[in-house]
Amino acid sequence: MPENLMDKVVALCKRRGFIFQSSEIYGGLSNTWDYGPYGVELKNNLKRAWWGSVVYQRNDIFGMDAAILMHPQVWQASGHVENFFDLKSDCRSCKKRFKSADLADKKKCPECGGELTEAKAFNLMFKTHQGPVADDSNVIYMRPETAQGIFVNFANILDSRHPKLPFGLAQIGKSFRNEITPGNFTFRTREFEQMEIEYFVPPEEADKYYASWVEERFNWYLGLGIKAENLRKRPHGNDELAHYARACTDIEYNFSFGWSELEGIANRTDFDLKQHAQSSGKDLRYFDDQKKERFYPYIIEPSGGVDRSVLAFLADAYYEEKVKDDTRVVLKLHKDLAPTKVAVLPLLRNRPEIVEMAKSLAAELKKSFITVYDDTGAIGKLYRRQDEVGTLYCLTVDVQSLEDKQVTVRDRDTMQQERIAIDKVKEYLSNKLV
Ligand code: GAP
Repeated sequence: MPENLMDKVVALCKRRGFIFQSSEIYGGLSNTWDYGPYGVELKNNLKRAWWGSVVYQRNDIFGMDAAILMHPQVWQASGHVENFFDLKSDCRSCKKRFKSADLADKKKCPECGGELTEAKAFNLMFKTHQGPVADDSNVIYMRPETAQGIFVNFANILDSRHPKLPFGLAQIGKSFRNEITPGNFTFRTREFEQMEIEYFVPPEEADKYYASWVEERFNWYLGLGIKAENLRKRPHGNDELAHYARACTDIEYNFSFGWSELEGIANRTDFDLKQHAQSSGKDLRYFDDQKKERFYPYIIEPSGGVDRSVLAFLADAYYEEKVKDDTRVVLKLHKDLAPTKVAVLPLLRNRPEIVEMAKSLAAELKKSFITVYDDTGAIGKLYRRQDEVGTLYCLTVDVQSLEDKQVTVRDRDTMQQERIAIDKVKEYLSNKLV
């Protein structure tokens, strides 16, 4: 791990167009980030990999996309209005704000030693008003988790898809929390994206499915290339459990700022369905037509953060390698995550025949792979640029290509080069990438 790894990742993200500070030209909105051209590709690839593994590769999970704004009663029933609090204290001298849970000494400011105010409860939900009049009758919340959009649609799924237990619903979407202490780049922000599965199971089998989801989700990160020594499972102590959970295990990544949560897998019991049934007056029980029984299923919830995962994959893939007298920075992202798969580079940009050949090869490859064409520098510089954004293969068209109709293929990780016939390039890349 290079020293100051996170500083280097942040600098690379800005330099190459992965992640920018939000509203930077106005001095920036603190702890809010925008994904640039490479960042959005990486993020979309990550979400696609998740959706593929939990929806397309299974027969028992359906996708969903619920609205961010929901009936305010949802948040009463879910317990968020009453329980979704952090305790905070302010320093009377330097005015800094702290989460009480992070303070060793609850009376003294850890920054300046000043006196801290009494800890005050602070609800993390963003509140706004629906419609033109801002009064108490039209308060509405920005959802702090995507999960509730699934629970309130439980009956709709039963009625439209008639699934049998166990089955799940998966959703990716934005959530909002007015965090007291956001920070560590995109790790803790007030606007973020979640990937959540709510998996409905017979209550007596909840422990079994809980354990198997912990394994499945842990292995998903490993399968996409996270180093095993940087990933661990951490079961929650009883004092840490959320108000709805009976058990929870976090999957944590070894960030340079310490082991931190990427995803939590929780046994939410029948808390949510019961609460919504009681609050809405609708029967949200499942009918088992074999046993002729109606009951509330338990819910196992693997809930991960898109932004946190992107950050972990970036940090894990960042390498600095000595190449002769130079250092190359390379992002060794998994092939499914790399924002660009192929770059086509003409060796000499002042030779129109070479440029034309390279452009037409790029145009052809674009039909099958995410491919870029770049002729804006000398070849060494172009390779370095592609290494920094994780491009898997660079294809170079040179003078010889005009005669032998071959190009040089360079592998990102090994830097090995080989000559391939142009009419075999597509097949070669398909074997490597698909
Ligand atoms: N529905 C359950 C739930 O929301 P959580 O542990 O509060 O559980 C799940 O959140 C995941 O969402 C976390 O593991 C994390 O990856 C992500 N997440 C939560 N708060 C976040 C924040 N402020 N910034 C970025 N990601 C966050």
